[in-house]
Amino acid sequence: MAKYRIAWMPGDGIGLDVMQAARLVLDALELDGEYIPADIGWEFWCREGNPLPDRTMRILEESSCGLFGAITSKPKDEAIEELAPDLRSQGLVYRSPIVSLRQRFDLYCNLRPCRAYPGNPLNYRDDIDLVVFRENTEGLYSGVEFYPLPDAVRKAMREHNPAMARFDNVPAAEIAISLRVITEKGATRILRKAFEYARDHSYRSVTLVEKPNVLRETSGIMTRVARAVAKEFPEISLWETNIDAQMMWLVKNPQDYGVLVTSNMFGDIVSDLAAQLVGGLGFASSGNIGDAFAVFEPTHGSAPKYAGQLKVNPIAMLLAVRLMLDWLGEEELSTVLEQALAGVIASGEVRTYDMGGTSSTIDMAQAVIRAFP
Ligand code: NAI
Ligand code: MG
Repeated sequence: MAKYRIAWMPGDGIGLDVMQAARLVLDALELDGEYIPADIGWEFWCREGNPLPDRTMRILEESSCGLFGAITSKPKDEAIEELAPDLRSQGLVYRSPIVSLRQRFDLYCNLRPCRAYPGNPLNYRDDIDLVVFRENTEGLYSGVEFYPLPDAVRKAMREHNPAMARFDNVPAAEIAISLRVITEKGATRILRKAFEYARDHSYRSVTLVEKPNVLRETSGIMTRVARAVAKEFPEISLWETNIDAQMMWLVKNPQDYGVLVTSNMFGDIVSDLAAQLVGGLGFASSGNIGDAFAVFEPTHGSAPKYAGQLKVNPIAMLLAVRLMLDWLGEEELSTVLEQALAGVIASGEVRTYDMGGTSSTIDMAQAVIRAFP
């Protein structure tokens, strides 16, 4: 029996292309793994009314971790239109399967390293080495939304804050509310992960990116907890910044920052900016990490216009493989893979279209494999 069981979830579109590259590289690395195909994505929504079928959940429950390509998701109306006819009147609601995975396995830590590899023509600067920690299960993406606005919610808010009176005349069908939920437990575990990572990887600072001057209570918890956790790590400085200003600083002086930590939606935004500084979607990978389980993915979507052409850059996917190897404790293989990737990027001989070249997804994977020691 293989040492690791890895749930294999290509998903939709270019998810299949980049997972093909991932498999070539994992086989060449000779990871002692068994790869269990698991259905996920738009196809299963359309056919079965569930983009994350129960059989996939069972595979995941019996796996060491999951590797995920990308999925397609579409707005509410299209989601209903594309359902199989017999499913259309059942009142099914599309929920992003990756968001469901994060919540059902409590994958609270979204880890997104953004390093500029020397020689990448897409680098904003060559000295950027950012690692974003995004809380993955709460915040503004908790999934608590009201529309049309129930009277009970309106009444409770009005009682809590008289300023709500200015919405009294807005009909229920003309107002929507999304809740930003932050718990002390949620804040503590993401902050601790960020500080531990900084310590283990020799970063000297952790920057908390929030907005406590406006979001006094939710960002307030993040700030209080950050200061408390920071005391456990005297060798690491805690910097506190506001999300808006931080976006400017990241464009002006990205080289000044190391580990960044923030809540769910801010983290979504910060990590895309950080990714663009080091090459964009072809280079951005992430780990969704809990205490006992994790799912690794490139952060790009299914890019339907390139699906099946084996044209897109697999580096984001391969960096996700590297995060998986790290998490499994396969540090040697992880280092082999990262050094090979760095070497291929530096030499510039093989470049996919986004890097200004004409190499294919598979050319890139094979170049990485050739660069193994
Ligand atoms: P996308 O990330 O799929 O693609 C946007 C553009 O980025 C592509 O057209 C392409 O030019 C470039 N790109 C993406 N990945 C690349 C790669 N590996 N190499 C080179 N270039 C790459 O975003 P889009 O077009 O907004 O969404 C397409 C579908 O993907 C939608 O259905 C969306 O909901 C879904 N999506 C899924 C995500 C996921 O599975 N985690 C994340 C983002 C979007
Ligand atoms: Mg995003």
